[in-house]
Amino acid sequence: MPLLAVETSCDETGAAVVHQGRVLSNVVSSQISLHAEYGGVVPELAAREHLRNLIPVVRLALRDASVAADQLDAVAATRGPGLPSALMVGFKAAQAVAFVLGRPFLGIHHHEAHLYSPWLKGQPPVAEFSKFQPNLSLIVSGGHTLLVHVRAELDHTLLGSTVDDAAGECFDKVGKLIGLPYPAGPEIDRLAEGGNPKAFDFPRPMIDDPSDDFSFSGLKTSVRYFLRDHPTLLDDPQHVRDLCASAQAAIVDVLVTKTIRAAKRLRVGCVTASGGVTCNRALRQRLTDACERERLTLLLAGSSLCTDNAAMIGILAERKLKLRSEETTIDADILPNWALG
Ligand code: KG4
Ligand code: ZN
Repeated sequence: MPLLAVETSCDETGAAVVHQGRVLSNVVSSQISLHAEYGGVVPELAAREHLRNLIPVVRLALRDASVAADQLDAVAATRGPGLPSALMVGFKAAQAVAFVLGRPFLGIHHHEAHLYSPWLKGQPPVAEFSKFQPNLSLIVSGGHTLLVHVRAELDHTLLGSTVDDAAGECFDKVGKLIGLPYPAGPEIDRLAEGGNPKAFDFPRPMIDDPSDDFSFSGLKTSVRYFLRDHPTLLDDPQHVRDLCASAQAAIVDVLVTKTIRAAKRLRVGCVTASGGVTCNRALRQRLTDACERERLTLLLAGSSLCTDNAAMIGILAERKLKLRSEETTIDADILPNWALG
């Protein structure tokens, strides 16, 4: 049963067609360049851009999958959490498609979908749910830093989240202090490669806190004070690389330490990670090393599935329809503050 999925929770317009755990197409139109000018996502602009892009993106997803609209068996869309005006565009359009076709509709929790993107393997991606095992899942993006205990398929508990800035937000704010354009994470990743992660000692907030919560705003502030006290530091490109490597090491250290600690405490044998920051090479390497040491299976979402996309929405929707016959009413509303149960 081909299923069309739509994702418009933030600044990526996504549409995908999935069929029996296979991603037949996955189209993402990113708005990064539009928002870069403002140093962050402007909700009203995001919504207008979704309105402009949604139909071409859906058309392309159907064409790539060689599926005609009337061959669709179900339609899904991100229902929340996210920017209200952005969510509304994709969610309401998807409901309209389902209504016109007379097919089941499903509203999906954006973070719940992230939990399953690491299970998509290969090209084209296929969901390896036959290999599913209970896991500890790290979701790290520009808006969220979450640790989730996934006990079984469609059965999870949120363990902790950030009490202030998200990890990606910290990358972006540190980058802004250095003078890098938004979003700065990928550029910090690149610059850090040539830097010494031990050059400067930045704090690892809440690393020893027994909770599964995170805090990153103090780290950003300490970088700000450090630059205030060393006003000429950024004149030397090697110092910039060292600063990127040192700040990145602090963020990665906290993420990896707390993820592994939670996995051991809950006695799960598997760790998964997704969200834009999972593209970070230092984080991928540190998670790989730590999981090897602790004999934990590690599943990292592939680069194109780390960031926001509709394929993960479609894969979860298909699973919910299959295992639970779950549906969302055609006149249901978006849930911008939907908590991950
Ligand atoms: O998941 P995502 O595309 O969008 C949401 O925030 O929902 O994540 C974007 C975030 C940005 O903060 C960006 O700087 C960060 O992910 N990011 C990275 C890297 N690639 C993207 N952070 C560190 N290293 C990277 N390679
Ligand atoms: Zn996301």
